[in-house]
Amino acid sequence: MSGSVVEHTETIKNLLAAFEGESNAHAKYTAFAVKADIEGFHGAGSLLRAAGRAEQIHAQNHARVIKQLGGEAKCEIHPVEVKTTLENLKAALAGETYEVNSMYPEFLKEAEAQANAAAVRTFTWALEAEKTHARLYSEAIALVESGKKDAWVTKARDFFVCAVCGYTSETPEEHERCPVCNLAWEKFETIH
Ligand SMILES: [Fe+2]
Ligand SMILES: [Fe+2]
Repeated sequence: MSGSVVEHTETIKNLLAAFEGESNAHAKYTAFAVKADIEGFHGAGSLLRAAGRAEQIHAQNHARVIKQLGGEAKCEIHPVEVKTTLENLKAALAGETYEVNSMYPEFLKEAEAQANAAAVRTFTWALEAEKTHARLYSEAIALVESGKKDAWVTKARDFFVCAVCGYTSETPEEHERCPVCNLAWEKFETIH
């Protein structure tokens, strides 16, 4: 590990904040998926489960770097406020948008300034995966709002999650390898 413990303090703080955010997003999406199924939005439930799995992968990746830097990956899981699926999807999108537009870019800048390659990598992977979630949540929100009975949000379906970086896709075999971390596509997890 390069650099002193002091130099890494800010990076560890950011990693812990990201670990907490991802761990809570996983808990939130899991609860939102249950609600989506109750409301008959089974496809939205599938998406929430897939995104939730990706957040778990991000939390594990962040935890690994926290440990490498001598920290302890601990956080509090907050009670989840479950509303209607439309509201839940909007809350999920707001969280993703915050991570994509401000949280991860700031954390990345700091990790780059410290030349902390492991932190740069785990933040980059999460940032790129959250972009896929933001796009899919936006699509789901539009379909729930449209009220169309045959839209994909109503039927349980498969999503494909990169087991290494959490990149999430609605298409099987979208590429030969993960466009973010280069994992072979056959190693993606199928989430229903
Ligand atoms: Fe996400
Ligand atoms: Fe990946």
